[in-house]
Amino acid sequence: MVVFFYFYIMLNANKSIGIFDSGLGGLSVWKYVAEFLPHESFIYFGDSKHAPYGDKSDAFITERCHHITRFLLDKNVKFIIVACNTATAAAIESLRENYPHIQFVGMEPAIKPASLLSKTGHIGVLATHGTFKGELFKRNQEKYKAYVKIHYTEGKGLVELAEQGKIYSEETENLLRQYLHPLMEKNVDQLVLGCTHYPLFIPLIEKITQGSMHILHPADAIAKRTKDLLMQHRILQTRKNHGENIFF
Ligand code: DGL
Repeated sequence: MVVFFYFYIMLNANKSIGIFDSGLGGLSVWKYVAEFLPHESFIYFGDSKHAPYGDKSDAFITERCHHITRFLLDKNVKFIIVACNTATAAAIESLRENYPHIQFVGMEPAIKPASLLSKTGHIGVLATHGTFKGELFKRNQEKYKAYVKIHYTEGKGLVELAEQGKIYSEETENLLRQYLHPLMEKNVDQLVLGCTHYPLFIPLIEKITQGSMHILHPADAIAKRTKDLLMQHRILQTRKNHGENIFF
């Protein structure tokens, strides 16, 4: 009986982690988590055909998330990371309700650490329209608005530029300046990247902000949370070799 139980755990632990985003932004999360958990294997799905999610209805995004979840479950994944703030805001509750046998972890803007770190009392959040309008975000900001002034900026157009590969273009730099200058004028010292596409722009953001803001990477908390949940559910990879990665 004990041997059977041990094999059962090992079989599950050896499965891959599923991870998805509206496009290639979630790769910034995959990279971070894969470095943090090097023995795990990953199956990544980027829904670039339907990107951006930010201005789509919750119903549309939820339908896409269900579709992708079924695809990943068919590939026999053991755990799913929703590497998209917008998809998390629209669909994580519905996913948890509909697939109770699998654990999901989602993204939410790192307002708590930003509030704790801020010295000026001003934090900036750059995210999509979909993330700002979600209940998760509203609840989160309610908790901290007494301690810091939160400045919201919708990064309209940034996801499209990332999907087109225009990571260092003049057009991208100009748009980022338009979003970041008002935050600099407000004395923001912590910048929360509330969309997984935005870490691709970190070199440009650093060029523009010239060290005046500390940038909070969206994947930091997710990597730790993923490890905790894998351990808690006894599905942390037991192999000692490097994991494999498959991308769709
Ligand atoms: N990477 C997604 C996020 O984290 C982008 C959303 C979109 O496709 O608009 O919100």
